[in-house]
Amino acid sequence: MPEGVDNVIVVGASLAGVRAAETLRKDGHVGPLVVIGAEHHTPYDRPPLSKEVLTSTVEPDLSLRAVAAGLDVDLRLGLSATALRAEARELDLSDGTTLRFDGLVVATGCRARTLPGTEDIQRVLTLRTLDDARRLRRLLAEGARRVLVVGGGFIGLEVAASCRSLRCQVTLVEPLDQPLVRILGPEVGLAVADLHRSNGVDVRVGVGVAAVEALGDANAGVSVELTTGERVEADVVVVGIGVIPNTSWLEGSGLRVEDGVLCDETTLAAPGVVAAGDVARWPNPLFGETMRVEHWEHALDMASHAARRLMAGSAPGEPYAPVPWFWSDQYDRKIQFAGRSHPGDRTVVVDGTVGGDRFCVLYGDGERVTGVLGVNMAARVVRYRKAIAEGMAWGDLA
Ligand code: NAI
Repeated sequence: MPEGVDNVIVVGASLAGVRAAETLRKDGHVGPLVVIGAEHHTPYDRPPLSKEVLTSTVEPDLSLRAVAAGLDVDLRLGLSATALRAEARELDLSDGTTLRFDGLVVATGCRARTLPGTEDIQRVLTLRTLDDARRLRRLLAEGARRVLVVGGGFIGLEVAASCRSLRCQVTLVEPLDQPLVRILGPEVGLAVADLHRSNGVDVRVGVGVAAVEALGDANAGVSVELTTGERVEADVVVVGIGVIPNTSWLEGSGLRVEDGVLCDETTLAAPGVVAAGDVARWPNPLFGETMRVEHWEHALDMASHAARRLMAGSAPGEPYAPVPWFWSDQYDRKIQFAGRSHPGDRTVVVDGTVGGDRFCVLYGDGERVTGVLGVNMAARVVRYRKAIAEGMAWGDLA
């Protein structure tokens, strides 16, 4: 460890925070290591929350392996960071204490956006935390059958698929032209909508929510007025309309906050401060684009990189230049995407037919291939992901 990085604090005890702590220890940090987590649960893995936690009769083990293996850290749960003074290297906590640090990892993630005016309606839920997932699971187990999903993003689609496997009646509304259209484009977005339709979901696109009303007490259903004027009654409404980075505690900290904590190419946000995971925005030199990535593998990778950057101290760090990747399991389809895509991208189908059981599509600008989508085509995604990392051009397509 370089001189001056003795005492490290990690703020955020989810995937990125835990991986940062794990990397610090693995790479030789022997000084004090405090991990602060706002939730009361021991750190857990989130991907099963929208899938197995809802559908299994027994809740799966969600504990993060590093935690289960007994990380040598001072893990303080149920506690939040309330203010940071980066230059003074001081952190205030919700219990009124102030901690000094030499190194700080910001890994506070994001919270779910809510539909304005629905916060007090018991049967309108978001799905971000273990408590959220348990609440939804309980309602489903108690007989909620009519489910309205608001938002055709990852949460909405995975919850819709899970609820269909429980034989619920599911309606999904998405204000844009297709689900996942901003990432996958209109053609693949339509294929995703059709996949859900063929599995019995009433998918309505170009439709938003105009008003939501509880039909009685906490145990009563909800009536939702759509922007088309129609009304849908549901036993439970699941809202998956995106997330907001948890950065309010960084006001006045000296860090730059712009839809996330702005870092340099190496993940450094200020001297002695790095950020990682959903909350971090950084210029990815591979794509020449400043990005914030909200996926599982990225949280792990960026956290390892950020921990090493912190340990490098004042030495120049390595740029963080990944090809981001995610997967989403819906029915019998494993949807995987690696890289980046943008509205209006050139797309080329390199295997199968869009909408079939297995297909692969490349995305890119005029010159370079920047993204690959595979549906039940994991090996293809791995291969193209590597090619994208190496700067694949359209001309390289055999
Ligand atoms: P999202 O950003 O994936 O999708 C939000 C969707 O809601 C979009 O389709 C958007 O058009 C729609 N929307 C926005 N405002 C709306 C409104 N007022 N009414 C109706 N629809 C509206 O966010 P989502 O699905 O909430 O997921 C939250 C986070 O969890 C994301 O960061 C996502 O990446 C992550 N996640 C990732 C998974 C994966 O990688 N497999 C699985 C589940 C969640």
